Amino acid sequence: MSSPVHQNSSFSTPQWWKEAVVYQIYPSSFQSHSGATTGWGSIQGIASRLDYLKSLGVDVVWSSPICKSPQADMGYDIADYKQIYHRYGTLQDVDNLIAELTKRGMKLMMDLVVNHTSNEHAWFLESRSSKDSPKRDWYIWKKPKSVSADGVPEPPSNWAQILGEANSAWTYDEKTGEYYLSLFTPEQPDLNWENPEVRAAVWDVMHFWLQRGAAGFRMDVINLISKVPGYPDAEVVLGAGCKFQPAFKYFVNGPKMHDYLQEMHREVLSKYDTITVGEMPGISDDDEVLRTVGAKAGELRMIFIFDLVDIDKPHVRMALKPWDVKEMKSIISRWQRVMIEKDGWNSVFIENHDNPRSVSRYVDDSDEWRHIGAKLIALMQTTLGGTLFIYQGEEIGLRNISKSWDIEEFKDIETINYWAKVNDLYADNPEELAYGRKIIDMKARDHSRTPMHWNAEENAGFCDAGAKPWMRIMDDYKTVNVDAQMKADLGDDLSVWQFWQRGLKDRKEHADVFVYGDFEELSVEHPNVFAYVRTSIKGEKWLVVLNYSGQELEWLMPDNLSVQFWACSNYVKGRAEKPLKKTIPLKPWEGILGRGVECVEYDDAKFAKADSFGYDKLSKPQSRPTTEISDVKFWLVTGDVKPPLKEIKYEAPSQSWGVGSPVYFLLIREGDLKRCKKDFQ
Ligand code: GLC
Repeated sequence: MSSPVHQNSSFSTPQWWKEAVVYQIYPSSFQSHSGATTGWGSIQGIASRLDYLKSLGVDVVWSSPICKSPQADMGYDIADYKQIYHRYGTLQDVDNLIAELTKRGMKLMMDLVVNHTSNEHAWFLESRSSKDSPKRDWYIWKKPKSVSADGVPEPPSNWAQILGEANSAWTYDEKTGEYYLSLFTPEQPDLNWENPEVRAAVWDVMHFWLQRGAAGFRMDVINLISKVPGYPDAEVVLGAGCKFQPAFKYFVNGPKMHDYLQEMHREVLSKYDTITVGEMPGISDDDEVLRTVGAKAGELRMIFIFDLVDIDKPHVRMALKPWDVKEMKSIISRWQRVMIEKDGWNSVFIENHDNPRSVSRYVDDSDEWRHIGAKLIALMQTTLGGTLFIYQGEEIGLRNISKSWDIEEFKDIETINYWAKVNDLYADNPEELAYGRKIIDMKARDHSRTPMHWNAEENAGFCDAGAKPWMRIMDDYKTVNVDAQMKADLGDDLSVWQFWQRGLKDRKEHADVFVYGDFEELSVEHPNVFAYVRTSIKGEKWLVVLNYSGQELEWLMPDNLSVQFWACSNYVKGRAEKPLKKTIPLKPWEGILGRGVECVEYDDAKFAKADSFGYDKLSKPQSRPTTEISDVKFWLVTGDVKPPLKEIKYEAPSQSWGVGSPVYFLLIREGDLKRCKKDFQ
């Protein structure tokens, strides 16, 4: 048995940002407003959907970047941190949005993109204007490593661009004859965080938004802000023919990152009551993560750990690596336990704008199974510990773009760069081209960026009929949309949306279990079933059993366990009819939630006597009392088994349920006592 939530840690101390349900909006694709002809979403559009979000159970809205940007990377290239991108609206629209959120008890989280700016930001234009510019040192400029005889300069190191690994992460500037570092694309030059003026300018941007009423930030690739000095060449891991190599080792959680985050905390965050989540790719070491999210670390509330969404990533994102359910479970369980044992805090997310849809990736998105699969994921997400993030469309089970779509429909710079690389390398090789397309079909970021499905009308209610959406809307919007799922009356079943809504409500009502509770996995060796128990500090327990396979199978509950009843299933609206212990049959992709798990830690030697009376030590007595006892968990023959039992509180029930001799007593853990009494009354 793993150790319980430490009594002396602050893990279970309630905080609004721990209980908050955060909903991520991709602003270009969420909701355009009436009368707009751009085909892009807008801030007014977001404001018009706040009642919708509230009814789903959302507390905090995080929008991907809305600031002024040439949109080389969909707003992750900011040209002015204090202005709004014209298609999205104005600062006034943001003020209105914050006011409308506040009215509903909700908050706004901004996307802070400060590892880099746009190459059109005034800071960069100034920096690149000359080697003597006062802002030259605001970015990372280096001389060419060498210049060939015919005058061709070589980049300072072999680092590959992150959104186009065929290209260099260094961009040559003809005018000053130097390279600047641009880890993502040439349009996204990296800021030089070594320079205190840069850090001060970032703190200023943060104050600007917090004072305006933002409740905090999602911080874009915040663990890339400190680079290893000297910019050494990276090891060669991509095959022959690849000039540039992934160099994460030299800029992920670099030498000064913690200094910078602590300074950020001192200078900005400590002055407000914020929600902060750092996007931190490429880091998986417990202690290193805890240096940022530990309760006493003084850096960020939580981070996005990439282990789950990178489960199929080898060296670069646009590639494939095999994985299985066991690995998926071990990643999730590991981080649940680490945060409990080391007093940190988790973010729970399975989708975002950089990943394919979860129903396509982890379950089965076919017409037959998508509805069940999306609810399986919802059950998992709403019962894991940490702050929960939902990505737009996840709540209706949106799936990946159809394989039949033409490549021209993909708009993301990463997909475009990747497809160009595949075509450069393999123009005459149909097999390689098909494999490249397969990777796009499975991994492209575009899958999660298609416009939201609001209703069955033209343009799915995303933008006015007649306007042309910036990106093609998925073909299934007439059947899979918010309107249909909210109104659905499916008899003894719930739509994906209704299931999410109920799950979020249950999570809030039982926050002490699902947000703050202990976590213990029960199915480590099982190839397909993910089963875990969540326990509140008072001892309330719930059991989650998830069949991550398209097969019917049976899961054997550990001997010392049973549930009072199966409160929820992704197949039916009400309780699931299943055995309460031992062998539990599961349908394909079925998930169930059991209430009131009893988990007696018994001592075989002590109970040997009980056995000798001829009773199964963990079963109910043969002759049952007439009282409704479906909530009684374990009955034990007491005989000469005397209290106090280690770790088990012994108490005779208030009324005699004994039938003849010997007398049966209910053995309950201390924390469960009150609740059980209530259940019986
Ligand atoms: C983050 C964003 C991603 C963007 C990149 C560069 O990973 O989520 O969309 O391309 O940073 O800003």
